[in-house]
Amino acid sequence: MSKGTIPGYRFGDPDLPASPVALEDLDRLKAAVLFGEADEAALRHAWDVLKDQVEEVLDVWYGFVGSHEHLVAYFSTPAGEPIQAYLDAVRPRFGKWIEDTCTRPYDATWLAYQEEIAVRHTPEKKNRTDEVDSVPNVSMRYLVAFIYPITATIRPFLTAGSHSEEEVEAMYQAWFKAVTLQVALWTRPYVPQGW
Ligand code: HEM
Repeated sequence: MSKGTIPGYRFGDPDLPASPVALEDLDRLKAAVLFGEADEAALRHAWDVLKDQVEEVLDVWYGFVGSHEHLVAYFSTPAGEPIQAYLDAVRPRFGKWIEDTCTRPYDATWLAYQEEIAVRHTPEKKNRTDEVDSVPNVSMRYLVAFIYPITATIRPFLTAGSHSEEEVEAMYQAWFKAVTLQVALWTRPYVPQGW
């Protein structure tokens, strides 16, 4: 998958506004989740293992969301009817996000798309990319809560390669930190004061 082949995927688009989060604030946030160069290296290894399993990972995550009415509601009409075209449209971007999380430098370009992903969960931008008539907001509490399932469910996929237990643990911890870091960034547009 490369840029331009996924509808609605805008990583690196020069027309995206710069993130309101400064690079030095990103550095501080990275320090707060203990994210360092060893984690970057571990994420690159994680992608080697995950790249052939992306569809299976997405099956697990979609299965989880789909099996809870209060979660699939965010991909549904206000009346509660799931919008399959919406679920299908987001899925390849979600897959690309796995790759981006593992392989991209966390720089200003990455930060700009972080902000875009964030607002796509909020009334500012939700539904617009895929032109769907769904509910206007993903409740922020679920973004935070999802750190756990998005982290825990990746572990069996990381063990599928030929890495030692120690290496798998390093990849797992790096993934956990990367997800936590991103969800911290994504809370920004929800929090008008005090972020
Ligand atoms: C750790 C937490 C989460 C992660 C990592 C995550 C990741 C993503 C990603 C990568 C996208 C696509 C971004 C793009 O357009 O390129 C996305 C979109 C979306 N996510 Fe999340 N998400 C999380 C939490 C949630 C939760 C809890 C829900 C509700 C069940 C949710 C519902 C959605 C919806 C509805 C979209 C489409 C938004 C739109 O209209 O553009 N997400 N998410």
